[in-house]
Amino acid sequence: MPLREIANYYCSHNGLFRVIPQKIKERRNSQIKPRILIPSSEIEAGVSRLATDIRRDYLGVNLLVISILKGSFIFTADLIRRLDLPLEVHFVQLSSYGRRMESAGKVQLMQPLNCPVKGRHILVIEDIVDTGKTVSFIMEYLKREQPASLKLCALLDKPSRRVVPVTIDYLGFTVPDKFIVGYGIDWDEKFRYLPDICALEDEG
Ligand code: PRP
Repeated sequence: MPLREIANYYCSHNGLFRVIPQKIKERRNSQIKPRILIPSSEIEAGVSRLATDIRRDYLGVNLLVISILKGSFIFTADLIRRLDLPLEVHFVQLSSYGRRMESAGKVQLMQPLNCPVKGRHILVIEDIVDTGKTVSFIMEYLKREQPASLKLCALLDKPSRRVVPVTIDYLGFTVPDKFIVGYGIDWDEKFRYLPDICALEDEG
C-alpha cells in the first residue's frame, strides 16, 4: 500500500501518523526515510526574518510568549533568543482525541497555563499549522481570557490540509502536503532531533 494512502487513512490532523499498525511499524525503519525539505541554514534565515518582524512590532511591549508543546520547543528556543525583547515564555501542551477518525478530532489543554493572561500582549508560537484545530483551540481559549493583544507565529503552514480557518500573523514557510518531521516535529515521537525540516518519503 503506498505511503500516501496509508497516511490518508490513519493520520488525523497534521500529516503525521497517529495510529500505526504493526505491519507499518515493520516497514517504516527500512522504507520510510526523511528527505531534507528546508535545510538548517534556511531555517536559521527564516527564524531571523521572523525575529526582525516581531521585534519591530513589539518594541517597548512586555511580551508574553506562549509556546505549544511539544513540536514548538526548538523553534521557540531559537526564536526568543533572536528577539532581544524583555519577554516571558510559558508553555502549554495540547492533546487531540479521536485521532483515529479525522472528522472527530478534539483538542484538550493537558497542562493549564499558570500565568495571568488578562491585559497581556500574547504571541503564540506554533511549529506547524495543519488542519488548524490545535491553534484555533488555543487562540479561542486565550481570547476568552481577554488579553491586550493576541497574535500567532507559526514556523510552517500546510494550507492544503486546513479544516479550520487560521490567521497566521508571522509565518516562516509554507510546506506541501507531505509528512513533515525534524526541527522539533515528530513522527511517532521520532525525528524531532533532526536539524533540518524534512519530508518523510516511502522508499518501498
Ligand atoms: C502537531 C504540531 C501542531 C499540531 C498541528 O502537534 O506540533 O501542534 O499537530 O496540527 P493541526 O493544525 O492539525 O491541529 P501534535 O498533536 O502532533 O503534538 P506534538 O507537538 O506534541 O508532537
